[in-house]
Order: sequence, then structure tokens, then C-alpha cells
Amino acid sequence: MCGIVGYVGNRQATPILIDGLKRLEYRGYDSAGLAMLVDNGISVYKTEGKISNLESILPDIKSTCGIGHTRWATQGAPTTTNAHPHVSGNISVVHNGIIENYEELYEWLISKGYEFVSETDTEVLAHLVHMYYKGDLISAVIEGLKKVKGSYAAAFLCAETNKLVAARKESPLVAGVGNGENFIASDVTALLKNTSQVIYMNDLELVQVTAQGMQFFDFDGKPVEKKVEKIEWSLEAAEKSGYPHFMIKEIHEQVTSVNDTLMGRISEISGDVILQDITLTLEEIKSLERIVILACGTSYNAGLLGKYLFESLAGIHTDVDISSEFRYANPVLSKSTLVIAISQSGETADTIAALKEAKTYGCHTLAITNVVGTTLSREVENILYTRAGPEIGVAATKTFTSQLIALYLLSIYFARKRRKMDIDKSKSLIISMKLLPGLIQQILNNKEFIQKQAQRFSNAKDYFFLGRSLNFPIALEGALKLKEISYIHAEGYAAGELKHGPLALISNETPIVALATRSSTYDKMVNNIKEVKARRAQVIAIAGMDDTEIGKYVDVVIKVPITDELLYPILSSVVVQLLAYYSAQALGCTIDKPRNLAKSVTVE
Ligand code: F6R
Repeated sequence: MCGIVGYVGNRQATPILIDGLKRLEYRGYDSAGLAMLVDNGISVYKTEGKISNLESILPDIKSTCGIGHTRWATQGAPTTTNAHPHVSGNISVVHNGIIENYEELYEWLISKGYEFVSETDTEVLAHLVHMYYKGDLISAVIEGLKKVKGSYAAAFLCAETNKLVAARKESPLVAGVGNGENFIASDVTALLKNTSQVIYMNDLELVQVTAQGMQFFDFDGKPVEKKVEKIEWSLEAAEKSGYPHFMIKEIHEQVTSVNDTLMGRISEISGDVILQDITLTLEEIKSLERIVILACGTSYNAGLLGKYLFESLAGIHTDVDISSEFRYANPVLSKSTLVIAISQSGETADTIAALKEAKTYGCHTLAITNVVGTTLSREVENILYTRAGPEIGVAATKTFTSQLIALYLLSIYFARKRRKMDIDKSKSLIISMKLLPGLIQQILNNKEFIQKQAQRFSNAKDYFFLGRSLNFPIALEGALKLKEISYIHAEGYAAGELKHGPLALISNETPIVALATRSSTYDKMVNNIKEVKARRAQVIAIAGMDDTEIGKYVDVVIKVPITDELLYPILSSVVVQLLAYYSAQALGCTIDKPRNLAKSVTVE
């Protein structure tokens, strides 16, 4: 998705903007550009493709004020002309989001004599602000944006004034506080190198940025008081630290991220889960009749395990809905429903829209998210931060296992409050969870073996991932990881469903990953393995260390350390992530930036 950076200060702006844009590359983009305030106006540079293409055309620009953008094409092809910034006279703009009343504004602006050079909706913003500019940029931006329907994080530069103005509605924007310099960005990772002091902007707020300070306003032009917050993420956490890809770095980081999600939330002594951020009262928890989980992609897969946990541990009926479907599905919700939105980025437009829809029914709301201060976190009553640290690789890895941990914590918390789980069970689960980081390390120590299996099957055209009950979500996640980064077609199936159709596709050319750790459905899973073996499929089983039987039925066994039956999904997740990573590596794929995908999907 698109990225924005802006700078006003006393240093040369170009390297700061380019560095910021590079830190946003992980979000996915297809063109990039800069607009710089120079002595005789604004200079704009833009190119298709990588930021390195942009760098190669940049002259030595003397400027201490500018805006930059990485574009992920929505309206208009990914060409240099359509790249941002867009210009109208003395005004330049970069924009993330969608202008829904573009056609109407386009016709109106044409009738006023404006000419359009690009196919983008963003160009209307440049013309609108140009039309209303009478010497005061902030007033012009307010007037211009009042005409706009849709979503935006937008930053404007005016040739006549050494300042930036930025505004947000339904698209992330954060301001960075420096000393004699100030910044804006669509994502805090673009700011980390220069400042850890940030101000998160709310919908329908504007900021005027100069080297000396920042003033915030609402759309009536009234000043708004804002709080400076400190970002806890380090710059190092957002860099590769010697790993060839962010994805493999982030897979390794699960040893610490799982621990960070648990930290301060469990007590081995009392055997209880402590969730201080949860404001639901005991009475409210006891009277919950239903949980509805809203999420997309990997977060949806995490939600499916959540359903299993909430139902089996806490006895609460749970549905998991794909966010983009929920909103249009006439949901049936009540005041005794808890809606849990799961989103790593906290900015996924589909999930935010679905949550907003759910809120109209008056239900309780909770978010499980990894990024502090995001739109999602400001829409809910309760937040459980996953604290996995910045995730840069497009494929979610450590944030997925941290979402699962958050769901374990929440389900034990509810189970205890609703008296569905005794203290011994809760204590034993907590003790087992504390051991998970060490067990993940053991899997990582065996990564060469997993790499060999990935290489062996990397020429396959189709893969199947099979699991039952609590392993089914991991089968879906394994297939999603493999297809998104290696482009090998992969399907995740509930193993029992195989003979109802997909078995027709199984042959000796379709490797099967069978999630066969110990569970109540283990014997059934072994039967399903026999079914696919009978069709000559090659089977890679993921099984517990103590399983001496499974090797008889399959071609390869990837062993995971022994843990509580309920917790195997965490360990199996690491294995399927490694399988996907090494398959993509064997095929020479651009692992951290898979084609057509973006890290944070901020358009519906
Ligand atoms: C897959 C992946 C996507 C995201 C999905 C939701 O590896 O990363 O499927 O899980 O776009 O994103 P969030 O969790 O940010 O709402």
C-alpha cells in the first residue's frame, strides 16, 4: 500500500525522505516520487518501479522541506505520470486512500478550467487546494478536503511557504517530533531513525508542520490539543540485522516475541492470566452469549484457532467472519456479543469497516493488534497488544504466533472468570506457555532439515496442507504462507473434508503437509494420511517428538518438541513458516515483497 513521508527542518530533506520511503517499501509499491521546496518553487521527481530508480534520477537538490510517496496503484496504471506527488500550480500533494466522488469533482474542476495529466483520483486534491489557496495553506486544505468523499492521508506542499500541511481520514498518519525539525509519515517505521516522539493523528484532523513546531486543527480550523507519545520499537528491530530477509529474521524473533506477548500477563504462582487492559467487568464476561471474530488473511486464520479456544475452554459460542464479507452480510448481533477484531497492522480497511458496522449494534469490542496508536486501537473499548515488534516482511509470521498467544490468554482469562477452567488446568497451561520460546528455538535449530524438505518439493505445482480441529487453522495458514511467497499453488483443508472433493486432485505430484501432532483427532488424522498415501501422494508429517508410529505412514517426519496438546499450533506454525520461506528461497522469489501484495491493506 502507499506510503507517505514529509520533512521540514534544518537538514537536507532528500536523504531523509528517501530513507523514510525505503523504510516503507515493505508495505508494497510500484512507483515513487518526491516534491521538494526549492528557491524558485517546487521540484518534482518521480519514477515507476523501485526507489533506486527514483534515486538514479535525482540531481543534487538543496532543500530542507519536502514530501515523498510510494504508490501502490489503485486508480490508474503504475506509470511515472500517475506516480505521486501531483501538482497544480504552486501546490503539490501526496495521498494514500481513495476519493470516492472523483468523477463528480473531476467534471467540476474541468468546468473551472483545470487540466488533468494523470489518471489518478489524487490529482483532484492538488487542483482543489490550488483553487482555494489565497495565501493560507491550511485554510485551502480544509476547504478543498471538505469537498472530498472517501479516505485520505494526504500531505501538501506550497511553493510560497516553508511548511507542510497534512490531513487524515480513514488512512493512517503520524507526526514525528524533532529538534528544529519535524516529520510526518504514514507509518512510524519511517520515523524511527530520526525520532521516537510521535503524535498519532485522528480522523478529520490536520497538522501544519514547520521546522519550529506543529499545530493541529480540526476541520472547523479550531486548534486541537495532542499528546506526544514515545515509540518503544527500536530502529534495529526494523532492520535486517544480518539476516538475508526480514521474513527469516522475524521467524527467528518468535523466540522473543512469544515471550513479549506473554510478559506480565501470566502468573505461575496464582496460575491465572492477568489482563489489565481488558475493561470488561466480571458480570459482562459472565453474560457474554457470543463472540464474533473479524479479520482478514493470516489474522483470520488466527481467529479460527480463537473459535476453537473460546468454545472449548470458555464455553462461549464463537463465529469467525472474514471482515470484507461481514459488513455486507446483515449480521445478527446483540449487546451480549463481544466483537474481536484481529489485525496485525491495525489499519486494514476491511476490518476497520466491519468493526464500525458491528459497533452500531451496541456490542462490546476488543482489538488484538500489534501496532500502538492505530485506527483500530482507537475504535475499540478493549485492546490486547501483541507486542511482537515491527514486522516488515509482507508475510505475517511472528505477529501470527503472537496473535495466537493473545487468543490463548484471552480464552483462559474468560474461562477462569466464567468458572469453566480450574486453577490446575490454567496453571499447567501457563507453565507450558512459558516454555514455548525454548521449544521454538529447538525447531529453529532443526531448520536445515526443514530447508532440505522444502528444496526437495519446491518443483511441485500444487501442495495440500491438512489438519483437523485445532490444527486446521494452521493448515490454512501453511497454505497461505506458501502460496503468497513462493507462488506455489497451495490449499489448506480440514483433513476430514478431503474425501468430499479434493481427493480427486491428489497424486504423486501433490506433496501433502499433514499436521499430525497429538490431539483428540490424531487417529482420524492418521486415517486421512493413509487415504492420501493410497493415492501415492508424498506426505510430510509434522508430529511430536514422542511419536514413534507416524514414520511408518509418511515420507518425511518433521518433529516438534513435546508440549501441551493445546499449544502445538504455535510450534507447527513455525514449521510451516520455515517450509514456505525455504521453498520461496529455492525458487528465487522476492520473499519480503511478494508480487501484487502489500503489508497493510488500507483500501477496501
Ligand atoms: C499474510 C498476510 C495477510 C494479512 C491480512 C490482514 O501473510 O500478512 O493475509 O494477514 O492482510 O492484515 P492485518 O492483520 O494487518 O489486518
